[in-house]
Amino acid sequence: MKVRRCSILHLEPREQVEFDLAALLSGGDGLARGCRWVALAAHLGEEVAVDEAECLLLGRISPESWTDAAAFGGDAARPLRSLLRKGLVIGRHPRHSAHRARDEAMRQGHWHPLAATFHAFTRWVDADAVRAMQETGTSTAAELRQQLGSPPPEVISRAGEGDRLHLAREAGNEFDQLLERRVTCRNFDTRRPLPAAMVARLLGRVFSAQSAVRVTDDTVFLKKTSPSGGGLHPIEAYLLVRNVEGVADGLYHYHPLAHALEPLPAPAIPVEQLMLDALAQQHWFADAHVLVALSPRYARNFWKYRFHAKAYRAIVLEAGHLSQTLYLAATELGLGAYVTCAINEALLEQAFGLDPVAEGVLAVCGFGWRAAEMETMELDPAERIWKAPTAGDPPAV
Ligand SMILES: Cc1cc2nc3c(=O)[nH]c(=O)nc-3n(C[C@H](O)[C@H](O)[C@H](O)COP(=O)(O)O)c2cc1C
Repeated sequence: MKVRRCSILHLEPREQVEFDLAALLSGGDGLARGCRWVALAAHLGEEVAVDEAECLLLGRISPESWTDAAAFGGDAARPLRSLLRKGLVIGRHPRHSAHRARDEAMRQGHWHPLAATFHAFTRWVDADAVRAMQETGTSTAAELRQQLGSPPPEVISRAGEGDRLHLAREAGNEFDQLLERRVTCRNFDTRRPLPAAMVARLLGRVFSAQSAVRVTDDTVFLKKTSPSGGGLHPIEAYLLVRNVEGVADGLYHYHPLAHALEPLPAPAIPVEQLMLDALAQQHWFADAHVLVALSPRYARNFWKYRFHAKAYRAIVLEAGHLSQTLYLAATELGLGAYVTCAINEALLEQAFGLDPVAEGVLAVCGFGWRAAEMETMELDPAERIWKAPTAGDPPAV
């Protein structure tokens, strides 16, 4: 039987701490500590415990060339069987086909190994960010201070007052006012439908292609309002829509050249529930009229930046650019907007039919009509949006 190691694998020596009554009764701290090995294989996306014999064997098996299993000797038989079962070693037999297909997708993706591992193991499935803050007593800024002590200072100084080169402060124009009105919205008006024209305007400004450069028929670069590494614009906009006039509630993909919404199959659960679950129960965001899942097509960027140490970083930065453009476009239209990466991306990927090895959800933006009352606190100390804040402490989010 021919085998090879999976393509991207990191082994972590991890300490496990467990309550131990015997240790407590004998005068100790009541904790038993033990070390174990954990395999982080990007194509599996789940941690796998391995023993020392398996660790050593993994170091002997080529990830590239198929090797006859007999070459590893009789002692390797037990750990090899286990590694094949766990999907860390890939076999050619049909019973290994599921793991082989996942590993093959990983190989074809041109991922930098560390980026692939980071991407695979920082995903959430059913996190509840609200409960986590409540349980740790970190829901408000005051609670954060109480639990964590003081943060590093809000500014640093690298020169004395006399050595500073003071810069002119110009009187603000409309652009400055727009920037000042950009406040992360946590209060949406669920009763007021959003006109389709506003959605079209916003999506056009943020996600549409203004023009294109056609190098050859199969090599086209788009020009958009936000910058993109290599001009590749890998980030797709997938939408959850509810309460938009003339647009049925549901899931859509935005086409940046056609400037059109492409309807997708309905999700297995109601859109409202999907929004709340995808946003890790952040109900203040789930009320938005439109959620935009920023979903990179990694292959588009990795086509140029193959196995590149900076490629994933560039894509994350691009999501930030898009979100700021979306914030400003929404603010200009008189709408509220937000961005969050505290998301259960696995739910969204399932709903939109995306394979995270090829195109996972990186962040979620939302926009819609602001509510008349502030129930969840927003950061607006200059009172650009809320003239008389009604809620309590600033939130910690
Ligand atoms: C990358 C990123 C992630 C964020 N995630 C959350 C979040 O999960 N929940 C939330 O309520 N706000 C989130 N925010 C909004 C910030 O809390 C907000 O930007 C900050 O409090 C400053 O307020 P402002 O945007 O109104 O200036 C996020 C902002 C950024 C840039």
